Amino acid sequence: MLRVEGLSHAFKNGNETTLVLQQISFVVHKGEMVALLGSSGSGKSTLLNLMAGLMKPTEGEIYIADNNIVKMNENKLAEFRRTHIGFIFQAYELLPNLTVRENIELPLVFQSERPSIRKQKALKLLEQVGIPDKGDMFPSQLSGGQQQRVSIARSLITEPSVIFADEPTGNLDTKTEEEILAILKELNRTMNTTFIIVTHEREVANQTQHIITLRDGRLEQSQSPEPDQAEEVIQ
Ligand SMILES: Nc1ncnc2c1ncn2[C@@H]1O[C@H](COP(=O)(O)OP(=O)(O)OP(=O)(O)O)[C@@H](O)[C@H]1O
Ligand SMILES: [Mg+2]
Repeated sequence: MLRVEGLSHAFKNGNETTLVLQQISFVVHKGEMVALLGSSGSGKSTLLNLMAGLMKPTEGEIYIADNNIVKMNENKLAEFRRTHIGFIFQAYELLPNLTVRENIELPLVFQSERPSIRKQKALKLLEQVGIPDKGDMFPSQLSGGQQQRVSIARSLITEPSVIFADEPTGNLDTKTEEEILAILKELNRTMNTTFIIVTHEREVANQTQHIITLRDGRLEQSQSPEPDQAEEVIQ
């Protein structure tokens, strides 16, 4: 589903080059919920932005559903991102002048989807993220946790192959964080959407099936549960 091969990235500022990621390789299977862990500055956001096609790596390949996004030209990549990739930001990034429902529908507006279909899908997602009655409100009228629910719904409306989330609960209190995680887990289970979630919290990671850990820009660990071992524990 997602394959990263020999990925390295360096930022250039004037004469200075900072090597931020070095020779990262791992595989994520369809429907997995992945936690991307690592201390501050270890390269998590950089890796996420590269996988989401927001920038090009210095070296290496990234395959999403067998498409190498590193090799795509800008137009093709933009189109691929619109149809295959969802993104959830820590700061929600909702448009203040659009209602909640209009925010959720926006990715489909860019795909020229019919208004009636857009509305129907947005209303269903509002229900799935637990705020069925908030569609006509504006983002500023919602709590942080509710705004993040809207942003989750927006990321799902195109039914992407994979959703990247950069510290989606970073601005929320513990209880709201748990609620948002429960929603993500439920969506992962029911829609079989692949989620890759950057987090600082071990606790979050413990709820996912696959943990990827970065240390100083290198891959320290990429661990999926062994199905055999999981069964042994149950028996
Ligand atoms: N545009 C940039 N130009 C130069 N250096 C950058 C740039 N963006 C990030 N870096 C550097 O790359 C390294 C990794 O940054 P990144 O944002 O990926 O870390 P992170 O693991 O997401 O950290 P945090 O947990 O604090 O969000 C840091 O040393 C950072 O200073
Ligand atoms: Mg970061």
